[in-house]
Amino acid sequence: MSLESFLTTLDQLERESLVAFDAADDADSLEEVRVRYLGAKKGALKDVQKQMGSIDPSDRKAAGMRLNEFKSKIQSVFEASQDRLGGGGEAGVDPTFDPSLPGIRPNLGHIHPITQTVNHLMEIMGRMGFEAAEGPEVEDPWHNFVALNIPEDHPARDPLDNFYLATASANSDRSVEGEQLLRSQTSTVQIRVMENRKPPIRVISLGRVYRPDDPDATHFPMFHQMEGLYVDEHVTMANLKTVLRVFATNYLGGDVQIRFRPSFFPFTEPSVEVDFLWNGNWIEFGGAGMVDPAVFEAVGYDPEKVSGFAFGLGVERLCMRRHGITDIRDLYSGDLRFLRQF
Ligand code: DAH
Repeated sequence: MSLESFLTTLDQLERESLVAFDAADDADSLEEVRVRYLGAKKGALKDVQKQMGSIDPSDRKAAGMRLNEFKSKIQSVFEASQDRLGGGGEAGVDPTFDPSLPGIRPNLGHIHPITQTVNHLMEIMGRMGFEAAEGPEVEDPWHNFVALNIPEDHPARDPLDNFYLATASANSDRSVEGEQLLRSQTSTVQIRVMENRKPPIRVISLGRVYRPDDPDATHFPMFHQMEGLYVDEHVTMANLKTVLRVFATNYLGGDVQIRFRPSFFPFTEPSVEVDFLWNGNWIEFGGAGMVDPAVFEAVGYDPEKVSGFAFGLGVERLCMRRHGITDIRDLYSGDLRFLRQF
C-alpha cells in the first residue's frame, strides 16, 4: 500500500470515528463505537496497524507517526465521551457502588462548651463596653500576689495551694522550686492592664487558672474565670451591682436577682461574695469589691483620684448552671457523647 493511500484512509477513519463517538448517547452505544474503532480483535485501528506491513520501508516512519497521532486522538475522544456520559465505561464501574444509599457524613468538630461560654460572656460584657484583655498563664509572684496586696506570709501563697514551677538551678542539677507559677486567678490581668494604661479602664479577662485541687463534681485543677475591672473617677459599688445584675440577667435569662454578702479579698475593700437567685436558690458565682488603694499604689495610680471595682466569676459554674451540668469533670473528660450535646 502506498503511503498516500494509507494517510488518506487514516484521515477518513479519523473523521468518521469522531462523528461516531460524538453521536454515542448512552453507555451501550459508546461501547459499540469503542469496539468498532478500538476493539482489540476487529477494531478499525487494528486493521490499519496490519496494513503498516505492506508499506514501503522508507515510508514506514512517516506512516507510524501518523498512526500514533491517530491512536491517541481517538483514545482521548473516547475518554471525553465517557466523561460526557457520566461513567467510566465498563472498567470504571464499581459493581458494589449503590448510588441510592445515603452517604456517610464526615465527623465535623465543633466548639467546646466552655469556649462557647467564654465567647458568650465576652459578647455580653462587650455590649456594656468592656473590652477583652489577656495575660500569661505562667505568672510571677508580683502579678499573682504582691501587687494584689497578698503578702509573703498569706496562706494563698502556700505551695500546697499553687502550682509553682520547678526550674533547674544554676549550680546544681537538682531542680528547685522556682519563683514562677501557673496563675491561680485572673486578677493578675488587672495588674498587667493597669501597669500599661491610664484610666478610664473597662476590661474583662477570660482565661484558665490552676489550683491543685483533687477533681470531684465541683473541683478541677484547671478551670476558667472571668475577671472584670472598671477604673475611673467616682466609680461606686452601685455601678458594680448594676453591671453584675445586667450581666446575670443577660446570661442566665429572666430578671435575675443579685445579692452581695460581706467578705474579704486582699485586693478589694470592701469585698463581697456575689450570689445570683437561680431557680429559687441563692448560688455563689464569685467575688467582687472596690479596688483596694494598695493595689492602685502598686501600679502607680493615685487612690485619691481614681476609684474602681473588680470582680471574678467562675466560668464553669456559669456554664454548668445554664446548661444543667452537674459534674465539672464531664467538661474535661473528652467524652464525645457528652460534648456533642452542645
Ligand atoms: N480572684 C478571686 C478568686 O480567685 C476572685 C475575685 C474576687 C476577683 C474579688 C476579683 C475580686 O477581682 O474583686 O477567688
